[in-house]
Amino acid sequence: MVVGATPGLLADTRGRHLHDLRISVTDRCNFRCTYCMPKSLFDKDYKYLAHDELLSFEEITRTARLFALHGVEKIRLTGGEPLLRKNVEALIEMLAALKTTDGRSMDLTLTTNGSLLPKKARTLRAAGLQRITVSLDSLDDNVFRAMNDVDFPVTDVLRGIDAASDAGFFPVKINMVVKKGVNDRDIVAMARHFKGSGHIVRFIEFMDVGSSNGWRMDDVVPSAEVVRAISAVMPLVEAEANYSGEVAERWAYRDGSGEIGVISSVTQAFCASCTRARLSTEGNLYTCLFAQSGHDLRALIRSGRTDAEIAAAIGLIWEQRGDRYSEIRSDATAQDPKIEMSYIGG
Ligand code: GTP
Ligand code: 5AD
Ligand code: SF4
Ligand code: SF4
Repeated sequence: MVVGATPGLLADTRGRHLHDLRISVTDRCNFRCTYCMPKSLFDKDYKYLAHDELLSFEEITRTARLFALHGVEKIRLTGGEPLLRKNVEALIEMLAALKTTDGRSMDLTLTTNGSLLPKKARTLRAAGLQRITVSLDSLDDNVFRAMNDVDFPVTDVLRGIDAASDAGFFPVKINMVVKKGVNDRDIVAMARHFKGSGHIVRFIEFMDVGSSNGWRMDDVVPSAEVVRAISAVMPLVEAEANYSGEVAERWAYRDGSGEIGVISSVTQAFCASCTRARLSTEGNLYTCLFAQSGHDLRALIRSGRTDAEIAAAIGLIWEQRGDRYSEIRSDATAQDPKIEMSYIGG
């Protein structure tokens, strides 16, 4: 055994435990959302990762098992668009077999743009995926087509949500990133559409992720305004968090017809309870969504290190973690170079 952190419950320099692992399985996407993969940068000359640069399913599963030994209980697959990774169902089957330190199954979930769900929802369910979150920024077809920038119709994403629901993923969470002047007029319509469906829409403050989205504070619609706008027509009451450290703040309709969530990483940073580690497609470990650099786990894996050595390395990285980007964000830090959301996932 090498010297360093041994598997178990880890805490970072701010006392935050390691609880979630978000794994990006591809850096590709079939959308070109203007705030995430703008066409000007992600064009035909953009160099995506080559196949042998990606962690294989065996490498991902091995790494995830070591994270599980350190206390991880929730795994989220992201991208890019995770359903574009060839045979991702096989990976899901492998991850679904992992256990938490006290022998329970992992909370295994995935964030998708929904475009491939009509085709894949059933096989994902059969493979052992437990939950699905779908990104959907507007119900207005023109706005949606302009935001995804590949002319993808909103009805096809709605069909994807239905397919997920029919396959047994219920409720589906629906993430809407709100950008002022772009889709903020669609907030109430989005809430109204899903009210009473059982699905849960979460309104997300637009963030300065990556270096390509040209973020300004003026682009942000504070969650308090979102809640006010919806509540004015469909009254809301604040609801208790489902678990400590939950990113979304929950609001229930007063008439009992469901709930919405707001994610306020700009106006109310939640770094103090951030328990998330992120593994990139090529095996870099990032301890913050806004990190400027990661830790190369793939090099350790491919140089023949033992499980104990890799687990110890993960432990040390987490114990040294001090990230709290959203607490120190400013117009100046927004200009700093950062990893792209399409590379590390949401
Ligand atoms: P549940 O497991 O369903 O509760 O998911 P979640 O609440 O963790 O939410 P999800 O993974 O769907 O994240 C929703 C959005 O919240 C992301 O797309 C990001 O925009 C934002 N977000 C999630 N995690 C973080 C984080 O660690 N930091 C910041 N700044 N934003 C985050
Ligand atoms: N701000 C907030 N959330 C973002 N996402 C992508 N870019 C941003 C951003 N700039 C999130 C969305 C999307 C997921 C893939 O990443 O929730 O659903
Ligand atoms: Fe693709 Fe999601 Fe980024 Fe849009 S936000 S380009 S769907 S990864
Ligand atoms: Fe966690 Fe970094 Fe997001 Fe703060 S900014 S909540 S530390 S990922």
